[in-house]
Amino acid sequence: MQFIDLKSRHHLIKDRIDARVQAVMEHGKFILGPEVGELEEKLSHYVGVKHCVTVSSGTDSLLIALMALGVGVGDEVITVPYTWISTAEVIALLGAKPVFVDVRSDTWNMDETLLEVAITEKTKAIMPVSIYGQTPNMEAINAIAKKFNLPVIEDAAQSFGATYKGRKSCNLSTIGSTSFFPSKPLGCYGDAGALFTNDDELAEKFRWIRVHGQERKHHHPILGLNGRMDTLQAAILLAIFDVFPEEVTKRQEIGNRYSSVLSEASGLQTPTIAEENTSVYAQYTILCEHRENIQQQLKEQAIPSVSYYSVPLHLQPVFKDLGYKAGDFPISERIANQCLSLPMSPYLSSQDQQRVLDAVCHSAN
Ligand SMILES: Cc1ncc(COP(=O)(O)O)c(C=O)c1O
Repeated sequence: MQFIDLKSRHHLIKDRIDARVQAVMEHGKFILGPEVGELEEKLSHYVGVKHCVTVSSGTDSLLIALMALGVGVGDEVITVPYTWISTAEVIALLGAKPVFVDVRSDTWNMDETLLEVAITEKTKAIMPVSIYGQTPNMEAINAIAKKFNLPVIEDAAQSFGATYKGRKSCNLSTIGSTSFFPSKPLGCYGDAGALFTNDDELAEKFRWIRVHGQERKHHHPILGLNGRMDTLQAAILLAIFDVFPEEVTKRQEIGNRYSSVLSEASGLQTPTIAEENTSVYAQYTILCEHRENIQQQLKEQAIPSVSYYSVPLHLQPVFKDLGYKAGDFPISERIANQCLSLPMSPYLSSQDQQRVLDAVCHSAN
């Protein structure tokens, strides 16, 4: 059993992928070729946002978002400590300071009740993360942001395809940013990402920044980077996107099955999907009081599992100068100590799902 099964989908749509890749090889427009525009149109329509600007990765996507907002030295950006390092890394790369607020104990997303007190005169943006496939309480976060006239960037690297109050992730704030890293719900065959916004000026800046701050040929009004998505990745994503809605449904079916069984087991916390949310289960993650026992049991049965972000960002050596210490964000620290992600993929067979459930239940009870 694989932790994330990418091969089954490839075999299913191999002909479509081959045809798309072959077309790019033939026309030879490897940088910003026609597939990039075609994909941007499809994705913006799917998300329900005016502009989609594809970029080279989910990390560059966040970086470009902050650059377009003018975040720089001395500024603060509020985010969470329980996330992949990219979220805070891009803030620090620009010379700004990541300011952490803890996450909620039910959804493991930004605790909106802690947000307002973290805002200072230096705050330039708020960057909540949609962890494991569901968005935070965006209405509450947006309301606080509005009160202080601050932009909100949703780090939706893990939640493309999810919904909040019927609206798609990436269409819930000033900017939505996602990743198409292979293991993401909509993953390509390399690195890629995308930005979403309804703001014309921001979209224009994203387009400049992804090509070295270039407004038109040889004219660079702002600093940028080499941040474009390869045409080949766009072509591959176009083929994968055709089966994506079906895959989201399958992920949800598996997530629901896992939860219905595991919520009965003792010593486990299953993911709470808020009433107004649907999750794409980028990962299916549980909290375990006795994580080592369960990991051992799974290992003995050759069932892969992963503990993501087992050191939260405020305790990472690279951020020691921020002055945080153990105990500052107790919910994030508890999740980091107890989290365990189980095999999840739209192509995980019913038998394999049962094997996972049996192994976890056996060692939990
Ligand atoms: C929450 C979060 N933010 C940002 C990223 C960065 O995306 P990428 O790997 O495409 O740079 C990831 C990817 O793992 C992520 O999970």
